[in-house]
Amino acid sequence: MRITSPSAACLVVAVVAGACSRSTPAPLIPASTTMVTAWQVPQDPTKDTTLTDPKLADQIRLGYRIFTNTPKEAPQFTGGQVACNNCHLNAGQRERSLPLVAIAGMFPEYNNRAARLISLPDRVVDCFLRSENATSPHGTNVIPATESLPTTSSKEVLAVSAYITWLSRGAAVGTNPTWRGQNTIAKEQLIPVDQLDRANGEAIYMDRCTSCHGADGQGVQVGDKKAGPLWGPESWNDGAGAARVYTLAGIIRYAMPYLNPNSLTDEEAQQVAAFITSKPRPRYPFKDRDYVGSKVPVDAVYYRD
Ligand code: HEC
Ligand code: HEC
Repeated sequence: MRITSPSAACLVVAVVAGACSRSTPAPLIPASTTMVTAWQVPQDPTKDTTLTDPKLADQIRLGYRIFTNTPKEAPQFTGGQVACNNCHLNAGQRERSLPLVAIAGMFPEYNNRAARLISLPDRVVDCFLRSENATSPHGTNVIPATESLPTTSSKEVLAVSAYITWLSRGAAVGTNPTWRGQNTIAKEQLIPVDQLDRANGEAIYMDRCTSCHGADGQGVQVGDKKAGPLWGPESWNDGAGAARVYTLAGIIRYAMPYLNPNSLTDEEAQQVAAFITSKPRPRYPFKDRDYVGSKVPVDAVYYRD
């Protein structure tokens, strides 16, 4: 499945980038940062003058707008108040915040939840369905007809895929960038889900998170930034990666608290994640189609009933 020859790699990325001039992608925003850098985007397609094909440029720029403001730019596929950018900070360009730079060449890739090889647009569809809760647009809790759900040929999905592929121009195909997969708690530090002290998680949440996320978890305005809802009807649904205890703990451990990430211990991050995933959130209606033929992961707590 991997394309290893450099010329082939160049070809693949050139399809979207329109050129293959750069050998290394631009640097990521460091994990530890200030609110001042919240809007910094090292690779900004609205400022890239080498994007000469107007149709392609428009698609990439639309993808960028959707990524950074999903509820407004793709309302029919968004069930709440969460943008892609809420979890993939700085438009997917911050270290240790699930960065998406130079990852396009890793697809297609085997996905355990889907139990098959998935393409980048497949992955983006899943993000819309789950993290963006497209299965209940505008929080209606009415499952839309199949034809109004996002697919790999939806304009929005193609645009976001184009933006993510553009973030990979010049990157090697089939080679994991060093910053990929860094939002994970080391295996030996994982605590069995049922033994996690949720009450302590709540106490840490009240102490370290409410200044920006609010006691009700719905987010408070801090300057021109507002954190997204961590639970409730406006949040991601219970089929999302971030609804899994260890996956969420991996985000929190290295991306939060926003101004001093990496300040909670592995145990504290898991406790906070256990607290957040004990809260109600929208239901993903197709959970029975996930993990077919394999065991549901132990931290997928919303799959238990
Ligand atoms: C609630 C948090 C959250 C939101 C919102 C979110 N994602 Fe993600 N995303 C994740 C997590 C967590 C992962 C890591 C894999 C997983 O799901 O377990 C991920 C993985 C990905 C990947 C795969 C990265 C890789 O290295 O393989 C892509 C691509 C992606 N997201 C795109 C998007 C797009 C596009 C949107 C908006 C439509 C979005 N995400 C919204 C949390 C989120
Ligand atoms: C100084 C403010 C601040 C603090 C403190 C903070 N966060 Fe955040 N958090 C944010 C902002 C702002 C975002 C959205 C980032 C964006 O959209 O660019 C965010 C995003 C998140 C996300 C991604 C989904 C969402 O709802 O936006 C999670 C999960 C999260 N924070 C958890 C936590 C936890 C847990 C703590 C406490 C340990 C914490 N945060 C502390 C500001 C903060």
